[in-house]
Amino acid sequence: MSREFRRVGVVGLGIQGAGVAEVFARAGFAVVGVEIDEKSLARGRSSIEHSTERAVAGGKLTEDERTALLDRVSYTTRLADVSECDIVVEAVTEQLSLKADVFAELDRITRPETILATNTSSLSVTEISVHTGRPERVIGTHFFNPAPVLKLVEVVRTVVTEPDVIADVTALIERVGKTALVIGDRAGFLSNSLLFSYLNHAVRMYEQKYASREDLDAAMRYGCGYPMGPLALLDLIGLDIASEVLDTMYKQSRDRLHAPAPLLKQMITAGLLGRKSGRGFYTYEEPGSPVVV
Ligand code: 3HC
Repeated sequence: MSREFRRVGVVGLGIQGAGVAEVFARAGFAVVGVEIDEKSLARGRSSIEHSTERAVAGGKLTEDERTALLDRVSYTTRLADVSECDIVVEAVTEQLSLKADVFAELDRITRPETILATNTSSLSVTEISVHTGRPERVIGTHFFNPAPVLKLVEVVRTVVTEPDVIADVTALIERVGKTALVIGDRAGFLSNSLLFSYLNHAVRMYEQKYASREDLDAAMRYGCGYPMGPLALLDLIGLDIASEVLDTMYKQSRDRLHAPAPLLKQMITAGLLGRKSGRGFYTYEEPGSPVVV
């Protein structure tokens, strides 16, 4: 018999975690959102409030539905508050040691049957899972940014994930209106493996001054019908995250397509992380509005 999911924990309410929390709350689930401190918690809450405001403005939600959605999310800085959840999705920073600690703690505080999921972009789900006493109930649920908008979720299974866990998580993902793709555990999984080779290539072309950022972005938007050009997309993803994804893939594949372009590292060191820091390849007065400098 398949599991019933009622309460969902989301650990880490950065751009991705807040989006994931919104997706579950929108589908009627009670969500417990966890952050490390009050400041990050307030940022996560305002991200969900802002995103649902957009949904109301765009006619995707009524004001009443928004209020009900927001009421379904509770916010806390205590990880122990997810102890009654049926599934916990971790979306903390992309560092294996940090994720390992979170999973070890989640394993300790949740019921043994609770499914522990990671939203990692490229780290090994298997390596994360062995920090728990229940690797067979650890799985990847990889959402795409912005999670409330994009349809795909990669459901990442390891060699020990139980088939009923894969089936139940797939059904859950479909219940929240997403398309689930079940795939094996490999650095970058499927989409990021393809996408980041392309994004990295765009950074190299820009670095070599072969094309301006506007031309690179226009080429892919107008020539290939992509919703955003590669440099604008890197700003949306965050250059720090992009670099981590590329590093992880390069370590595993040794394919030069995945060796991060030097410019990426330089920009990160200089604090140009993309939209979240106000400047990346473009400068942002407000999130979402590129201003040419
Ligand atoms: N949160 C919530 N909703 C958002 C949003 C956000 N951050 N950004 C846009 N939206 C909504 C808007 O409200 C709008 O909704 P409406 O149709 O109800 O009005 C809709 O999305 C379209 O937005 P806009 O009209 O403002 O602009 P666009 O049509 O250009 O869409 C976009 C914006 C959805 C970001 C689109 O450009 C896009 O899909 N870009 C590509 C994004 C992408 O490739 N993401 C994958 C990144 S890789 C990844 O996430 C993996 C990870 O591991 C790194």
